[in-house]
Amino acid sequence: KASVTASGDSKEISPLLMGIFFEDINYAADGGLYAELVQNRDFEYAPGENGHEKNWGPKYAWNVEGDKIDFSISTDEPLHPNNPHYARLDVKGGIATMINNGGNAFVNSGFDGITVKRGEPYRFRMKARSSKKMPMEIALVSDHGRKIASGKLTVKQSKDWQDYELIINPDEHCANATLRIVPKNTGVLDLDMVSLFPMNTFKGRENGLRADLAQTLADLKPRFVRFPGGCVAHGNGLDNMYDWKGSIGKLEERKPLSNLWGYHQTRGLGYHEYFQFCEDIGAEPLPVVAAAVPCQNSWNKSQYSHDAITEHGQQGGLPMDMLDGYIQDILDLIEYANGPASSEWGAKRAAAGHPEPFNLKYIGIGNEDMITSVFKERFNKINAAVKKAHPEITVIGTVGPFYEGADYEEGWRLAREQKVDMVDEHYYVDPAWLIYNQDYYDDYDRNGTKVYLGEWAAHLPGRPSNMETALAEALYLTSVERNGDVVTMSSYAPLLAKDNHTQWKPDLIYFNNSEIRPTTDYETMRLYGENAGNKYLDTKLNVETDNDKAKARIGASVVKDDASGDIIVKLVNMLPVETTMVVDLKKFYPEGQKEINSVRTVMSGKPADEKASVKTDRVTLASPFFTMPLAPYSFTVLRLK
Ligand code: AHR
Repeated sequence: KASVTASGDSKEISPLLMGIFFEDINYAADGGLYAELVQNRDFEYAPGENGHEKNWGPKYAWNVEGDKIDFSISTDEPLHPNNPHYARLDVKGGIATMINNGGNAFVNSGFDGITVKRGEPYRFRMKARSSKKMPMEIALVSDHGRKIASGKLTVKQSKDWQDYELIINPDEHCANATLRIVPKNTGVLDLDMVSLFPMNTFKGRENGLRADLAQTLADLKPRFVRFPGGCVAHGNGLDNMYDWKGSIGKLEERKPLSNLWGYHQTRGLGYHEYFQFCEDIGAEPLPVVAAAVPCQNSWNKSQYSHDAITEHGQQGGLPMDMLDGYIQDILDLIEYANGPASSEWGAKRAAAGHPEPFNLKYIGIGNEDMITSVFKERFNKINAAVKKAHPEITVIGTVGPFYEGADYEEGWRLAREQKVDMVDEHYYVDPAWLIYNQDYYDDYDRNGTKVYLGEWAAHLPGRPSNMETALAEALYLTSVERNGDVVTMSSYAPLLAKDNHTQWKPDLIYFNNSEIRPTTDYETMRLYGENAGNKYLDTKLNVETDNDKAKARIGASVVKDDASGDIIVKLVNMLPVETTMVVDLKKFYPEGQKEINSVRTVMSGKPADEKASVKTDRVTLASPFFTMPLAPYSFTVLRLK
């Protein structure tokens, strides 16, 4: 038996507590959230950026069928210097052969195949130039060899690159189609930026996001989105830091970038698209830029001691004479987001279709960087410059890398000394750590630097997330809500993982081209996101047992959401037995209050279950003093109307 008794006191907590952290890891962007269906559309895959694929390079995912097409990669007079490679097809054989022979085709295999839905429109686009007028067929062919969509276009004879576009509608659902470009004349044909995009993207945005996956993220009701990393933000070398300017503008002018997680970023999903997504789901954008130092964590931790990593970090910073330019890039980013359309960078935002500002309020500087003198020198200058130019922007620093044995002392010392607005803490820990460290933030200074719990998750080594991890997180979040006056934001990591391309486990949501599988932990985050509050109502939790370990497995948090007026009670039972919870909220209701309508959601299961049962019903409570049975291994959310 346990009880939760309201004292009548309350405090303001952050309304931004629940958010998401999107990083391009596990094929989360290209082949994932970004809706492009053609892989390597720009022929810019770079040899060596994916250590384990021998055939990785500009031809990756492309091949020719038949013997009439010679396929080579050329760099003469490209579309744009940032996109130097393109496909050159030398189409041979008589015209009659080509017209009759559909067997000769230039084929893209997509990201593990191209998945299309019957009746939905898809937009094919490409840039092309040809030595001769070149009629061609654009087709989607199923893995059974059936043509399920096709259209015709003619590339004119031209020395200059021209745009071509065609809408095709598959007459069949297919999980594993290929895109075929079938030239119907001989000649030399140059192709680049070959794209097939669903027109039904999330919110119908051109160059937008895969609708079902984006909706799954929106369903978490995130109050902010951190992007683009993680380690992707600071990169695995100075030339690999995520330069935001290379991720905006016309697609062919963006700078492709090797991904530190071992693949390629077209950056079709770039800063503009991130900002747009945030706006579309009503979340605050939280971009993270490198603190002018790259990732030291890409070094093998078993080989490199703490000191060696520190030393590497010491060597790894951007030369100081380049720092002013780098800082200007960050100020330009703020102008891109918030400046008037008449400003230099605001004009680029307007040109991309968004004249209104994106209203950026937060910026992350650094990610898990070693707090070395090299880091400090650079971070301090960047932080000071951003605060000077934009006191209205909240700067989020870092307290250092997370790995076993690392502590955040030096990072916190720096944060206090520099009066950093907020710092980003990361921890990937076992469920027991979360259960027994619920007092982690209780003694944090309320008046100084705030906390962003930017990356966290319960990990069971070698095992997927299950009810045990999900409930440990639900329990820990009761303590995060209690400390919502110092912990301002939190986000589970990593967010997305594509089947067969997963570098990091566990993740919140698994997916392939057709299917999305949110985990148990997703349900925890969704329930907290849907039931966030802006006031913490002070309550005392009493668990009737002398066993401290059992005590720690019961959690409660009561918040109020002023917008709806609802009081939300969260109750976690990580014990193997049912527990009766007596809830006394009389202090928050007028005397004599009777009959309170509530909506109850219960997530439950056995600890090893990888799927949660989540059930919702309506409950009329007789008064603000009521008893609630908590099923073994369950998380109950009661929303009192
Ligand atoms: O979330 C995966 C990685 O974990 C992030 O890129 C990095 O910040 C952390 O080490």
